[in-house]
Amino acid sequence: MSHIRIAIDGPSGAGKSTLARSAAGKLGYLYVDTGAIYRTVGYYMHMNGIDPENEAAVTAGLPEISVELVYEEDGLQRMLLNGEDVTGAIRLPEISLCASAVSAYPSVRAFLLEMQRKLAREHSVIMDGRDIGTVVLPDAEVKIFLTASPEARAERRCLELEQRGTPQPYEKVLEEIKKRDWNDANRAAAPMRQAEDAVLLDTTNLNFQESEAALLAMIRRRTGGI
Ligand code: DC
Repeated sequence: MSHIRIAIDGPSGAGKSTLARSAAGKLGYLYVDTGAIYRTVGYYMHMNGIDPENEAAVTAGLPEISVELVYEEDGLQRMLLNGEDVTGAIRLPEISLCASAVSAYPSVRAFLLEMQRKLAREHSVIMDGRDIGTVVLPDAEVKIFLTASPEARAERRCLELEQRGTPQPYEKVLEEIKKRDWNDANRAAAPMRQAEDAVLLDTTNLNFQESEAALLAMIRRRTGGI
């Protein structure tokens, strides 16, 4: 049986992971959060005192790292770094910028590419990231570019951080979002961009239910209602 591949790309805070996870549950597909694997590499560098802006040092650290993605029965994705569960730790705000910095290096992208493609060979997937439709799965059956204004994304991120018990001021969150957008879209290696054959979904003025309905409708249209 051939598997269906759904690629969802877009900037941070557009709702990719929440929407993709929920849609994957409804379709019975595996949800793959590829940002988590870049975060795991960023986390390693952070914990080992390696400057994420130093490409040579980051590249030299890669052979020391084993990144594994494991799934719980309910489909929840967990990240293992050299055997240790770092699923919660990689979500800290300081790790976001480390992940963005290390993800610009071709060595890091090459290091993580095959594990992403392997998952899509073995399962029907909804995979979210920045370069899934353009680089990781260029032949994906469905490609969606999910976005929202930086202000709407900052508001959602603030709410999420508050619910996690790690609140941050709105201005700081907005500034970080803009910085990450710029980094992710302007790097030479696999920059974030909408694939030519991707459909655009802008969730600035949509709530979760509306966004999910729009996403599922796009998927059904492209897969002929599978
Ligand atoms: O989706 P996220 O915010 O958890 O991703 C963290 C960082 O990882 C993001 O700033 C850019 C990078 N990333 C990437 O370069 N390519 C991907 N496919 C996913 C994430």
